[in-house]
Amino acid sequence: MKKILGLVVSLMAVLVLSACAGTGGGKKTYTYRDMVVGFIQTGSEGGWRAANTASFKETAGELGLKLKFYDAQNKLENQVAAFRNFIADKEVNVIVLAALETTGWDDVLKEAKAAGKTVVLEDRRIDAAEDLYATYIGSDFAEEGRKGGTEMCELLKDSTGKNVVELVGNVGSSAAKDRGQGFRETMGACGITITQTQTANWSATEGKAVMEAFLKQSTDIQGVFAQNDEMGLGAILAIQEAGLKPGVDIKVLTFDATAGAFKAMLEGTLNVSVECNPLLAPQVYEAALKALNGETLPKWVPSQEGVFRASDPNLADVFATRKY
Ligand code: AHR
Repeated sequence: MKKILGLVVSLMAVLVLSACAGTGGGKKTYTYRDMVVGFIQTGSEGGWRAANTASFKETAGELGLKLKFYDAQNKLENQVAAFRNFIADKEVNVIVLAALETTGWDDVLKEAKAAGKTVVLEDRRIDAAEDLYATYIGSDFAEEGRKGGTEMCELLKDSTGKNVVELVGNVGSSAAKDRGQGFRETMGACGITITQTQTANWSATEGKAVMEAFLKQSTDIQGVFAQNDEMGLGAILAIQEAGLKPGVDIKVLTFDATAGAFKAMLEGTLNVSVECNPLLAPQVYEAALKALNGETLPKWVPSQEGVFRASDPNLADVFATRKY
């Protein structure tokens, strides 16, 4: 009888110990299979955004995590409502946000924290207390802007006129604010003046319309600083329709380095595209997993990015290796 009792006690001990091992002694160890991510995308405004969305969908499949994707159609109110829906969704343990605007997030972030959700910011920075989110993974937009200013100086080095027009992304976004500020920091080194500036909301159609309006005001323009490829490609069409040669009569500089920009550089209508990396999902999911498991993360993990020029002799070879 004593022997049987002893055996039962040992068996129970083994069962309890093995149950504890799976949960780290009471604390659950998360894997990608336990992650349910609510991802609030800005919209689908162009090639960069399409590559960013694809990165999240494809990587979720590869890692075996569940992704609930929401396209906010570039409306801030849609993003805020989706944020609250993901907070209320019991299945979701991670919320990833690509914020349309830098401000207006304090309330939902506090609600997410109270509900125990892990929040990771991707692509776009916001103005909020750092303890309200786990980390921000995205570009150094100000540095991109500084690179842009330096490149425009180089493009205009032999030009007596240095009048540059600016096509701005959506004005409240970190990408637009910081690229604009960074460009202004370096453009002064060679005497560039920004003669006209207006938003074209990251869109090729609007970029074309705004550039047409700029050219109606004055053709004394030597450079276009377009805050993304789409707006720059639209501006190129407007320049051509005005009977001028983009890339030659008016230098064009953009951001993102998407396939469309590479094609334009190879045709000679676009001079420079400063890279902005959209393939952020592997880093974002990895960071979210670490945060779920209680790791403290750096508040910003900046992406490594380059600059591509129409004058690069090996541009076609580089293009062949690009994923977006
Ligand atoms: O935040 C990145 C920017 O957003 C890209 O430069 C632009 O194309 C996109 O819409």
